[in-house]
Amino acid sequence: MQSNSFELPISHALHGGYKHPACRNWVKQTLSANNLVYPVFVLDEPDAEQEIKTMPGIKRYGYKKIVDHLKPLVKKGLQSIIIFGILSDDNKKDERGSHAGGNGVKGPTNLALEEIKKEIPELLLIVDVCLCAFTIHGHCGLLNSEGYIDNAASLKRLVEVSISYVESGAQVIAPSDMMDGRIGAIKHELVRQNLEIPVMSYAAKFASSYYGPFRDACKSAPGKSDRQAYQLPLDSTQLALKAVQRDLEEGADYIMVKPITTYLDIAKEIKQKFNPIMACYHVSGEYAMVCFAAQNGACDKKKVVLEAMRSFRRAGIDIIITYFTPELLDWVKEEF
Ligand code: PBG
Ligand code: ZN
Repeated sequence: MQSNSFELPISHALHGGYKHPACRNWVKQTLSANNLVYPVFVLDEPDAEQEIKTMPGIKRYGYKKIVDHLKPLVKKGLQSIIIFGILSDDNKKDERGSHAGGNGVKGPTNLALEEIKKEIPELLLIVDVCLCAFTIHGHCGLLNSEGYIDNAASLKRLVEVSISYVESGAQVIAPSDMMDGRIGAIKHELVRQNLEIPVMSYAAKFASSYYGPFRDACKSAPGKSDRQAYQLPLDSTQLALKAVQRDLEEGADYIMVKPITTYLDIAKEIKQKFNPIMACYHVSGEYAMVCFAAQNGACDKKKVVLEAMRSFRRAGIDIIITYFTPELLDWVKEEF
């Protein structure tokens, strides 16, 4: 047979199967406000509003001001947010991250929880639990005298912070610190206190270079060294699966993959192996790249964002944490 007279096997004629828009709709992913979680940055002063240079359109809001920002979004269908507390004054940072909250102290997250709970009671309030925005050294746990992570001391502190957030109205606890045993430690205390509060584990969280803009936003970059000793190595599927299995055994209710665009293979493997209720964090660097590319005419923002969302759904993600949520609340109505 000559190479230019190749005969198409009947089973290889595919175009007819998706030529009509209705046929394409048969295979379309679904996406609605139900799938979206909006990350918000809140300050421990009431009325501030500060732009973040590396995250166009995203701001740090004062713990009262945030309510005005959220109300119109709730009208558009927003159902849940994840809250990140930030200190206005760097001088409040200390070795223990005291101003994260707990032990009699109300941190920015506590203040925002109480305000939002009062003003928008129907909104589901997820809280990020970590210490990096509150410690002088900028690490996610507490350090021992040699400057290494003190895992046991970190767990105690993270439990204390988690419970204080629940007391302020948090409805889902999401620890992002990556200490060993954090899910079990937090879940045990919640159950012991008869609190039916689910835990969302940042289980497959990689030591990524895509967190830069977030660290600007939260002023949470580590002073010395990096986070490779507690966040996952970029290359290892085995370690990600092991971390997921461990966190499920410790009682995690939801499992997160973070970042997502470059870890879709991991999401799919987790889905196939454990089939958990699965979240992804479409992180600050992923957000910034799309915004700056679109601003410079390199792509159509709405189209590339929706294409990314479809890929997350295809991989089996149920819950999408993304800074594009305010725009997506409109786009999902137009496109799905
Ligand atoms: C830290 C934390 C990080 C993010 C969420 N929680 C960054 C980090 O580990 O430095 C990243 C989120 C984003 O980039 O949008 N505990
Ligand atoms: Zn942290």
